Amino acid sequence: MTEPGSLAWVAALSRDYTWVEGVPFLSTTTGDLGALRDGFVVRDGDIVTVSYPKSGTTWILEIVHLVHTRGDPRWVQSVVSWERSPWLEKATGVGGINRQADPRFYTSHLPLHLFPTSLFTSKAKCVYVMRNPRDILVSGYHFWKTIKIAKYTESFEVYFEKFLQGEVPFGSWFDHVGGWLQMRGKENFLFISYEELHQDIRASVEQISRFLGTELNPEEVDSVLQHVTFQAMKENKMSNFSLLPDFLMDHSKGCLMRKGIAGDWRNHFTVAQTEAFDRVYREKMAGLPRGLFPWD
Ligand code: A3P
Repeated sequence: MTEPGSLAWVAALSRDYTWVEGVPFLSTTTGDLGALRDGFVVRDGDIVTVSYPKSGTTWILEIVHLVHTRGDPRWVQSVVSWERSPWLEKATGVGGINRQADPRFYTSHLPLHLFPTSLFTSKAKCVYVMRNPRDILVSGYHFWKTIKIAKYTESFEVYFEKFLQGEVPFGSWFDHVGGWLQMRGKENFLFISYEELHQDIRASVEQISRFLGTELNPEEVDSVLQHVTFQAMKENKMSNFSLLPDFLMDHSKGCLMRKGIAGDWRNHFTVAQTEAFDRVYREKMAGLPRGLFPWD
């Protein structure tokens, strides 16, 4: 097996998805997700951020890390986000996680059924971030264009269809959210949405800090808030993906910190697409109670 990160490994990266139990993964994902699910040991002190891509993961990470440092920005300004909180499923992920002292921070886009099962008997704290899937679709369309190993990004129409079919990196949004929401009500899980962050960022930061057991005083909260604005994060090269290597990201085609608003889908969807999306949404979400999501 080639060493993750080596020249041979980089050369072998491709736009082809690796399908695992019905879910398409990018070629940077570890080769054996089954071994990860069965073998990775989640520790009680771990702090895990889980999301479907483009839900506001990076925003939550910045908040979680600044809460941990009680508003001191030095960590988020000197260490790239994927080293502060490695991606569990990336080929290099477990190595990075195991190099951390406790508490360990890591991030994942894995659907529930592929996540290491030890999470479900541990006391690890897990923050699951959600966002209006219409905005996720738009954000993903623009973002995956910049990622050299993603596909179906040529036209919005094609990407729109592929998203509804779940043929985009990490699969179906509906399955991802539906799977993880089974954990709601468990005390070591916090479900929070991108829209809630927008509506009341102070209350959201306070909620996250209480959940993590790191209650902050008002000055510390002020400092967190100062460093998690869209503008502050857009300028923080440790968080804005500008340091993602050129073999993965074409920085001339776009950036992670694109618009940072809720509701941009209205500028992209046609009337027919809005109706088609709503039809699929109603059908797929039929089993969930009403009022779960701020965008409904
Ligand atoms: P847009 O593409 O709609 O701008 P993820 O981190 O899961 O990949 O999500 C990226 C999305 O979150 C992008 O959305 C990005 O702009 C948005 N985002 C990141 N930090 C943000 C912040 N501080 N405020 C608002 N939006 C933010």
